[in-house]
Amino acid sequence: MNDTAHAPLAGRTALITGGSGGIGSAIALRLADAGARIALAYSSHGEDATRTAARIDSLHGSGRAVALQADLSGVMAATSLVERTARELGPVDLLIAGAGVGKQLAWHDIDVDTWDTTMAVNVRAPFLLAQAALPGMTERGWGRILFISSIAALNGGIIGAHYAASKAALHGLTHSLAASVAGDGVTVNSLAPALIGGTRILPADAAEGGQLPAPIPVGRLGNPDEVAAMAAAMVSNGYLTNKVITLDGGLYPS
Ligand SMILES: NC(=O)c1ccc[n+]([C@@H]2O[C@H](COP(=O)([O-])OP(=O)(O)OC[C@H]3O[C@@H](n4cnc5c(N)ncnc54)[C@H](OP(=O)(O)O)[C@@H]3O)[C@@H](O)[C@H]2O)c1
Repeated sequence: MNDTAHAPLAGRTALITGGSGGIGSAIALRLADAGARIALAYSSHGEDATRTAARIDSLHGSGRAVALQADLSGVMAATSLVERTARELGPVDLLIAGAGVGKQLAWHDIDVDTWDTTMAVNVRAPFLLAQAALPGMTERGWGRILFISSIAALNGGIIGAHYAASKAALHGLTHSLAASVAGDGVTVNSLAPALIGGTRILPADAAEGGQLPAPIPVGRLGNPDEVAAMAAAMVSNGYLTNKVITLDGGLYPS
C-alpha cells in the first residue's frame, strides 16, 4: 500500500467555509490532525476562526492554517477565496462548503431578501466555490468536495422552507457534479446532519429545559466532533462519491 492510501490527506490543502462556526472548526481540527493544511473562511466571527487557526499552528507547526474573511453572500467572494487559499497554502485539494445561514421563520414570514440571501450563501456560494476549485482538482487527478447540507433537505426541518429548499439544492448539486468528475479522481458528497449543539445556527431554545426539538432516538443533540469525524471519513475515502450521508441520531430513517 502506498502513502496516499495510508495518509490520504497528508500535505493536502483544505478550504473550509464556515470555519468560524461550530461544525467548521471541528472539521478543521480533524483534517489538520490528518495532515492537511487548513484555510478557515469566516464572515463576521474572525476571532473564532483565528483562534482555531492558531490552535492548529501550535499543534502541527506554524504556517499550517490561515483564517480568511469572505462574505459568501457576494457573487465574487467564492472565486476570490479559492485564489487566496492557493496563494497562502497551495491549490485547494479539499473543499468543505460548510458556511450556512438559517433564520427561523414560518413559511408566511419568509421575505424575498431572506430567501435570496439564504440561497446565495447556502447554494450559490458552494457551487461557485466548486466551480473555481474543480479545474485544479481534475488536472491534478485528486480532489474532494463535501457540502454540509442538513436533514432539513429530507424532512423539512425546524428552520423554515427557505433553509430546507437551499439544503435540498445541495443534494442536486452533489449528484450532478459527482457524476461529471468521478473519473478524474474527484469525489463529491453531501453530509446532512441534524440538531448539532455548540453551533450558532441551531435555534437558541432548541434544547431548552432538556426538551429536544424533535424525537431524536439517540435522545440528545449531536456534537460538532461527531460531524467532523464523519466528514473526515468521507473525504478520506476515494471510493465514496455521489452520496448524501445523514447523521442525525436516528431521526430520519435512511
Ligand atoms: N447546527 C446544526 O444543527 C446543523 C444541522 C444541519 C446542518 N447544519 C449546517 O452546518 C453548517 C455549519 O453550521 P454550524 O452548525 O457550525 O453553525 P454556526 O456555528 O452558526 O456556523 C455557521 C458558519 O457559517 C458562516 N457564515 C454565515 N453566513 C456567512 C456568509 N454570508 N459568508 C460566509 N460565511 C458565512 C459563519 O461565519 P461567521 O460566524 O464568521 O459569520 C459560520 O462560520 C451550516 O451549513 C449549517 O446549515 C447545521
